[in-house]
Amino acid sequence: MIEPAIWPLGTVVGRDGHVRIRTHDLAALADRYGTPLYVYDAETIRSSLREYVDAFFRHRPVRVAYSVKACALIGVGGVIAREGIDASVASLGELQAARRAGFPLSRMELHGNAKPDDEVAGALEARVGRFVVDGAHDIERLARLTHGRRRPQAVWLRVAPGIEVDTHPHLVTGTIDSKFGAPISTGEALAQAREIARTKGLTLVGIHAHLGAQVRDARPYGELARALVAFANEVRADTGAPITELGMGGGVAVRLRASEEAPELDDYARAVTQPVRKDRALRGATIYVEPGRGLVGRAAVALYRVVGTKRVPDVRTFVAVDGGMGDNIRPALYGAEYSAVLAARAGEKAAEEVAVAGRYCESGDLLIRSVRLPTARSGDILAIPAAGAYSVAMSSNYNQTPRPAVVLLDEGQARVIRERETLADIWRLERR
Ligand SMILES: Cc1ncc(COP(=O)(O)O)c(C=O)c1O
Repeated sequence: MIEPAIWPLGTVVGRDGHVRIRTHDLAALADRYGTPLYVYDAETIRSSLREYVDAFFRHRPVRVAYSVKACALIGVGGVIAREGIDASVASLGELQAARRAGFPLSRMELHGNAKPDDEVAGALEARVGRFVVDGAHDIERLARLTHGRRRPQAVWLRVAPGIEVDTHPHLVTGTIDSKFGAPISTGEALAQAREIARTKGLTLVGIHAHLGAQVRDARPYGELARALVAFANEVRADTGAPITELGMGGGVAVRLRASEEAPELDDYARAVTQPVRKDRALRGATIYVEPGRGLVGRAAVALYRVVGTKRVPDVRTFVAVDGGMGDNIRPALYGAEYSAVLAARAGEKAAEEVAVAGRYCESGDLLIRSVRLPTARSGDILAIPAAGAYSVAMSSNYNQTPRPAVVLLDEGQARVIRERETLADIWRLERR
C-alpha cells in the first residue's frame, strides 16, 4: 500500500496492484521509457505552490521564488514559471535555465558565495532583478563592472544570522561557521552594507539569509525574521539604504517518508511574517521566500528496475537496482531516508525488510537502508516517492553511467522532458 501524503496527487493502487498517478501506470511508464526514470507530475507542482501562496496569504502576502537548484529542468521550471512566480538561481547556468523555462530576468535573484567573474558580468549584462552580494569580493567586482552604468543594480546582502537549526550538518547554512553570508554578530555584515551603500552603481534594497535545508521546526524562522528586521533597521539608520525587501531563504522540510516530521506551512508562514508585520518601519516591506524542495519534492517518483537480490542470512538482504547515487546522491551525501514500493505489486503484503542497493561502485551507494517489501524478483519495478528535489539536479556520470530520462505528466499526457543520456553524450567533450 502507499502513503498518499508523500506521493503525487491522485496516486492510487489499482486492484491489479499497479501504482498509478491518476491514469498513468508507473510500471507501464518504466517499460515504455526505460529505467531509471524520473516521473514528475505537473499538477502536484502547481498544488504545492498553491499551498505556499495560500498559507502566506492568510497572514500576509509574500513573493514566492522557486529555488531552481532543486530541479533545474526546463520542463519542470516551465510548469512553475507559468504560475507567475519569481526564481532564485545559484549560477549563470541556472539563470539561463530559468530564463528558458520562462521566468522573467527582472524577477530573478542570483546568489552564490563564489561567483566567478564571468558570472558576475553575465548577471549584470542580463540585468538580473536582484544580485545577492555574498562577500566583499562581490562588492569589489560589482563596483568595477557597474562603473558608468546609468541604472544602478539592485542588490541584496546575504547575512549569516547565527541561528542553529536541527538538520544534517551539511545542510546548515545560517550559522557563523558557514561559508555563506556575512556574520551579523561580528560587524562584518554592517561593514559590507556600508560598502554597498557607498558604491555608486549599486542600490542596497534587501537583506537575505537562508538557514539551511530539511528544517523540521518553524521556530527558527521566527528568529530569522526578527534578526533580519533588526539588522535591516540598523542598516537603514546607519547608511540610509532604501531596504524594503527581506529574503528569508527556503529550507522547510518535505516528508520523504510518511512518518517524518515537517512543519505546517501555516506555522512557517506565521513565524516568517509576524515580526515583519509588527515592525513600524518594515511593515510594508516585501518578504521573499524561496522554496525548492517544497515545490518539487513530492512531485516526482523515481523508477528503477530490480536487477537481483543478495541475501546474507541474519545480516541483511540487498535488493539491487539499476540506478543509485548517480541519479540520487542524497542518501549517501546526507542520509536522506526514502521509502519504496514495487510498482506493479503494491497490493501485496510486505514479506521482508531489505536495503535497496544502487548499481554504483561504492559501499555507500544504498538508496534505502531499510524498507519493507514483498520478495522482489529481477525485473520488478521499484518506485521511490518524494524524489523530485536535488536528485536529477545533482546527478552525475559516475562509473561512466548515463543519466536517467525524465518524463512530465501534464493534462493527461506523459512527455519526455529530458532524454536518457547515452555513452556518446558522456564522451562528447573528451579528447585523447
Ligand atoms: C539560498 C537558498 N535559498 C533557497 C534554497 C531552497 O531550499 P529548499 O529546497 O530546502 O527549500 C536553498 C537551498 O539550499 C538555498 O541555498
